[in-house]
Amino acid sequence: MTPRQILTLLFSFLVCLNLAVAQEKAGQPWWRHAVFYEIYPRSFADSNNDGLGDIPGITLKLDYLQWLGVDAIWLTPMFPSPQVDFGYDVSDYENVDSHYGTLADMDQLIAEGKKRGIRIILDFVVNHTSDQHDWFIESRSSKTNPKRDWYIWREGKGADQPPNNWVSLFGGPAWAFDPPTRQWYYHYFYPAQPDLNWRNPEVENAMFDVARWWYRRGVAGFRLDAVTNLFEDPQLRDNPLVDHKSNAYGDPVEREVYNLELPELHGVLQRLRKVSDEYDGVLIGETWTDTLDQLKLYYGQHGNELQLPIDFRFFAVGKLSAPAFRKQIADAETFEGQPVYVFSNHDEPRQYTKYGDGRHNDQIAKLLASLYLTLRGTPIMYYGEEIGMENNDPKTREDVQDPIGKLGWPVDKGRDGERTPMQWNAQANAGFSHVKPWNPVDALFRQYNVETERQNPNSILNYYRNLISVRHTNPALLDGKYVALNEDDPNVLAYIRSYAGKNVLIVLNMSGSAHTIKLDLPSKGIAAKSSKILLASFRTPRHGSVNTIHMEAFGAYIAALE
Ligand code: NOJ
Repeated sequence: MTPRQILTLLFSFLVCLNLAVAQEKAGQPWWRHAVFYEIYPRSFADSNNDGLGDIPGITLKLDYLQWLGVDAIWLTPMFPSPQVDFGYDVSDYENVDSHYGTLADMDQLIAEGKKRGIRIILDFVVNHTSDQHDWFIESRSSKTNPKRDWYIWREGKGADQPPNNWVSLFGGPAWAFDPPTRQWYYHYFYPAQPDLNWRNPEVENAMFDVARWWYRRGVAGFRLDAVTNLFEDPQLRDNPLVDHKSNAYGDPVEREVYNLELPELHGVLQRLRKVSDEYDGVLIGETWTDTLDQLKLYYGQHGNELQLPIDFRFFAVGKLSAPAFRKQIADAETFEGQPVYVFSNHDEPRQYTKYGDGRHNDQIAKLLASLYLTLRGTPIMYYGEEIGMENNDPKTREDVQDPIGKLGWPVDKGRDGERTPMQWNAQANAGFSHVKPWNPVDALFRQYNVETERQNPNSILNYYRNLISVRHTNPALLDGKYVALNEDDPNVLAYIRSYAGKNVLIVLNMSGSAHTIKLDLPSKGIAAKSSKILLASFRTPRHGSVNTIHMEAFGAYIAALE
C-alpha cells in the first residue's frame, strides 16, 4: 500500500468513526443529558396572591429556568388532594387541585415549556391514594363492594389487634381499623393514605390509564413515588425487629422484609415501561436502596424498567469527604446504567445546610454542584439550591405544618424547613407572593435571591448557570468515561471525564484548607501539556499546569486538557 493509500484509508476510517459518534448521539434518548429540576408547586411562585404557589406561577418562571439551563422539571403532586401529606394523598389523578390552578393551566405550562425546550414530569403517587379518592370511598363502603379488593383489607389478629406488626413510616401501626365493616386497611404512610392492592389487575389497568391520560396531554414522564412499596407479602407475616430499637416516633424499628421491595413490583414496572415507551417518556424512581445490587434491579434486567432510578446511596454520603464520595462514585461506575444523583429534595434537608460548615457554605454549594453536574449520570436539582437556599426548620412545635414534624418534635422537626418559598428578590416575601406565604421565607432571602444573584458574576446562581452550560456543551462531560485520579488523597477528589481523546479534569477540594495536588496523568494513559480552565470557584490562572494544581479551601476546578 502506498503512503497515499494509507492516508486515504485512515481518513475514511476517521470519517466513519465521527459518523458513528454522531449517530450514537442522535440516537440518544432525550433524557440522557438532561438536567432535571424539582419544583414543589406550593412554594415556587404565587401568581394569584393567596400565599400558595401555583401552576401559572411556574409558567411565569419558565424564562428563568430556560436561562438557567434546565431541561425538564419534575412537579411534586399538584392533583386534587385533601393535603394531609401536601399532595401525596391524591383524590383524583386526572385533575389539578384548585389551590394550584386548573387543567387549562397545566396545558399552558406544558405548551410554554415545550416552546423553551423544557419538559414536564409529574409525580405519580402509585402506592396509595387519599382516603377521599372515589376508589377508596367505594372500597370502604362494604365488604362486597367491587372495589373492596382495590385496597388491602384484613381481619385483625384479635380484638383491637391489627393483622400484623408492620409500622407506618409516619408513626404508629400501619393498619387502621374501619368500624363499619370491622376490618383493618393497610397504610404505609398516614392513615389518610391507604395502600392500593397492585395484585388486583383492575388497579394496574386504572393506574396505567392515568399514565396514558397525562402522556396524551403532553407530559414527558413520571417520577414514581414510593415505588419500592407496591407489594406486600400475601401472608402478611410479621417483620423481624431490629435489636429492641425504637425510632423518632417511639415505634419499634423493623427489617421491612415483608412490605418493601417485593419482587412482584418489577413486573408492574416492566409493563408500565411499555406504556411509557409508547410516548417516549421517562420513568424516574424514588428508589431507596442500601446496595447497588438492589438498585440495579430497578433498571430491569434488559434495561426494561426505570430509566432513572435515584441512587439515594449518593445522597446518603452525608459528609464532605473525598474518600467517601470517591468510593460511592467508584461503586456506581461498576455498572453501566445511568446513575441518578440528588443532594436534597422536598423530604430531606437542603445541601447548603447539610454540608455547610457555617463559614464556607457558598464555596461548598459550588463544590457540590461541581461534583454532581460533572459526573456521568443525571442530576436532579431541587428548586432554590442554585441560589444557596438553606433549611429553615420551624422554631416551635406550634409552627410545624408537616404532621410528622408535630409527631416527631423535637427529634424530627418534619419537612417544612426544606419547603420554604423560593427567593426571587429582596422585596417583601422574597417576591414569592404579595401576601404572607403558607410557610415562612428564610431569613437570608435579601442576600440569597435570584434577582440579586443574577447581577453578581461570582454568585452561586451564576456559577450553576455557567456549570450547566459547560456540561451541556462539552462532549467529555456529556459522554466521557470516569477516570479516578489520586485515589489515596484524603482531601481532594480528582477525576477525568474522557471521551474520544477529549479530556476534562475535575478537582474538588473537600477540605477547609488549601492544598496543592500533584497529578500523574501519563500513568492513566493521558497525554496533556496544559489545561484551559472551563470554570473554577476561586481565582486561578486561565491556563494551568497539568502536573501541579493549587486548590483553595473547598475550591472547585474544572479544566479542559490540551
Ligand atoms: C415520598 C414523598 O417524597 C413524600 O413526600 C411523601 O410523604 C411519601 N412518599 C408518601 O407519598
